[in-house]
Amino acid sequence: MTTASAPAKIILFGEHAVVYGQPALAAPVFGLQATAEVKEGTDHYGVVIHATDINSHFSLALAARNALARTAQLVLEKLEIPEPDLDITVTAEIPLASGLGSGAAVSAALAKAMSTHLGQPLPPAELSDLVFEVEKMHHGTPSGIDNTVVCYGEPVLFVKGRTPQRFEVGAPLHFVVGDTGVKSPTRNTVGDVRRGWEGHRRQYESWFRAIGKLAREAHRSIRLGRTEEIGQLMNANQALLQSLDVSSVELETLINAAREAGALGAKLSGGGRGGNMVALVDSDREAAVCEALQRAGAARVFTTSIE
Ligand code: MEV
Repeated sequence: MTTASAPAKIILFGEHAVVYGQPALAAPVFGLQATAEVKEGTDHYGVVIHATDINSHFSLALAARNALARTAQLVLEKLEIPEPDLDITVTAEIPLASGLGSGAAVSAALAKAMSTHLGQPLPPAELSDLVFEVEKMHHGTPSGIDNTVVCYGEPVLFVKGRTPQRFEVGAPLHFVVGDTGVKSPTRNTVGDVRRGWEGHRRQYESWFRAIGKLAREAHRSIRLGRTEEIGQLMNANQALLQSLDVSSVELETLINAAREAGALGAKLSGGGRGGNMVALVDSDREAAVCEALQRAGAARVFTTSIE
C-alpha cells in the first residue's frame, strides 16, 4: 500500500487580484491534511476511488465530471500507462468550500500516492501542473495559487504563469484561523468578481493593483520580520476585499472579534463570502484571539505558524 498527503493552505495576501496577474502570498497548513491510500485492486478491474468522507465511489468513466476520477486519469496519461487495477481511498480533514484549498489538496494527495505507487513519483512542479488542470473543473479561471502551495508544501510568493518563489520569514508568524461555517464555493466568488470587473474594468483594476502593491509590501515586511506592519497590511487588504464585495457579515464578525482581542491584523482568506478568516497574532495573544473567535461564533478555530 502507498500513502501520501497534501496540506491545506491559507492565503495571506492577494486573493482574487492574483487571478488578474497580481502577486499573492500563501502558505501550507500542515495541521490539516488530505490523504490518499493506494493498493492493488483485487475484486474489480481498473481504478476505483473511494471518497469515504462523502461516502462516494468513482471509476475513471466519471472523469469528465468528477475531480478525483479526472485526477487519476491525468496521472495515467502523464505516466503513459494503461489503467491498472487499483483501489484508492481518499480522506480529508480539510472542510470543503471554505477557502482552505480542499479541492487542490485531495487531488494532490491522490496524484502523489498514485504516481508513487506506480513507481514514477511526480516532482512538485509536475504534480502542481496536473492539479491545476483539475482545479479548472472547480472554477473555470484559477490563478494556480492553490495547487502551487499544496504541491510544493512551502510558503510562496505567487504570480500567475511564473515560477513560484519560496518566501523567507524574518520572524516567526503566528496565525489564528477561524471558520465562519458558511460554505462558499470559490467558483461563485471568482465568477462574481469577474462580472464586476467586466462591468467596471477601471475601478476593479485599480483595486487589483492596490492589492498587488500590498502583497509586495507584505513580502518585504515578512522578510524583515516586521509583524506589526504585516498586520496593518492585512487590514488594508481586507478593506480592498470588502470593495470587491467578497466579505460577509459572518467574516466581518470574526475579523472584528480577532482585532478587538489584540490580533495585529485580520482578513478573510481564499474566495471569501464565507469560509475562513486569518488573524496574525503575537504568540502571547494567541489564546485570547482563539477564545474571542469561539465566543463570536466561529464553527472551528485552529492555529498555524510559519517559522
Ligand atoms: C482561492 O483560494 C484564491 C482565489 O484568488 C482564486 C484563485 O486564485 O484561483 C480567490
